[in-house]
Amino acid sequence: MLEGTPFKNKGVIITGGGTGLGQSLCLKFASYGASVYTFGRTESTLEETKQRVNAINGNLEYKAIDIRNFDAVNEFIDETFRKIEIIGLVNNAAGNFISRTEDLSMNAFKSVIDIVLMGSINTSVQVSRRWMERKIRGSVVNILTSYADTGSAFVTPSAAAKGGLRAFTRSVAVEWGPKGIRTNGVAPGPFKTQGAWKNLIPDDSYEKILKEKNPMRRLGTTDDISELVSYLISDYSSFINGEIITIDGGEWIQGAGQFNMLSQIDDNMWDMIRKNRVKKE
Ligand code: HXC
Repeated sequence: MLEGTPFKNKGVIITGGGTGLGQSLCLKFASYGASVYTFGRTESTLEETKQRVNAINGNLEYKAIDIRNFDAVNEFIDETFRKIEIIGLVNNAAGNFISRTEDLSMNAFKSVIDIVLMGSINTSVQVSRRWMERKIRGSVVNILTSYADTGSAFVTPSAAAKGGLRAFTRSVAVEWGPKGIRTNGVAPGPFKTQGAWKNLIPDDSYEKILKEKNPMRRLGTTDDISELVSYLISDYSSFINGEIITIDGGEWIQGAGQFNMLSQIDDNMWDMIRKNRVKKE
């Protein structure tokens, strides 16, 4: 947890602040004193975020914009820079669904790639250009996913888009680092947010499987991520640049290690294995 109000008199832009992780990020940054600016497609959910931020005496402004409408997004970014010194950008807005890849239309791919990859590239370029012009030291955090690195079956548009954003993150970290702009990524595993569960989880039994296969035996909470993102936007992380931090309780490593399935063996079985070894010696 950060101390006090490190973002007082500073502005942070968070994309997709109406629901799920985006809403939690808005609340967290407001609680740390930031003036929060967010946009998303649905006015009613953005208004709900604003009411929740008001309830903690925070400061938030929003506009209903689809991230694929670059002109409207760029105008919104312009407005925020006229109001306050913007020091952070969190690219959170996403679109995703499960499907067999061979069943997807090209437009389905285009929708997800336009939202996740092109949307985040546009905001990053627009905000960073303004930082360069004003010589502001800014920080960008891109919300990725653990499968941005490994890929994942049945969510290929999202995997392709997030994988592209992962490469973009590391590329501009080097290119814009000398100009005082840090770019990092956070790669969440299973987090129970409204959007993720509605679009990606076939039924309740799958939630149980996700918990059981996680080394921490639980799902992540939005607070787990928003604390990490706040740290990465803050000056406390001023030497972290181009890093992708996985936050999944160890889920993806669990899937990768050849002998990790032995965690299913119970104590009695381990006793037998041990005794067997002693006998052989
Ligand atoms: C197959 C689908 C589809 C589905 C839409 N399409 N949903 N194809 N399966 N479930 C296709 C449509 O048929 C259409 O293609 C094209 O996609 C565009 O669909 P539209 O309905 O026009 O909507 P659009 O607004 O462009 O699409 C947005 C979306 C939607 C991505 C499809 O799901 C969305 O906006 N979701 C927002 C919320 C969300 O997904 N949050 C989850 C993020 S969580 P045709 O050819 O018919 O025109 C996340 C975390 C990952 O990413 C980690 C989790 C563990």
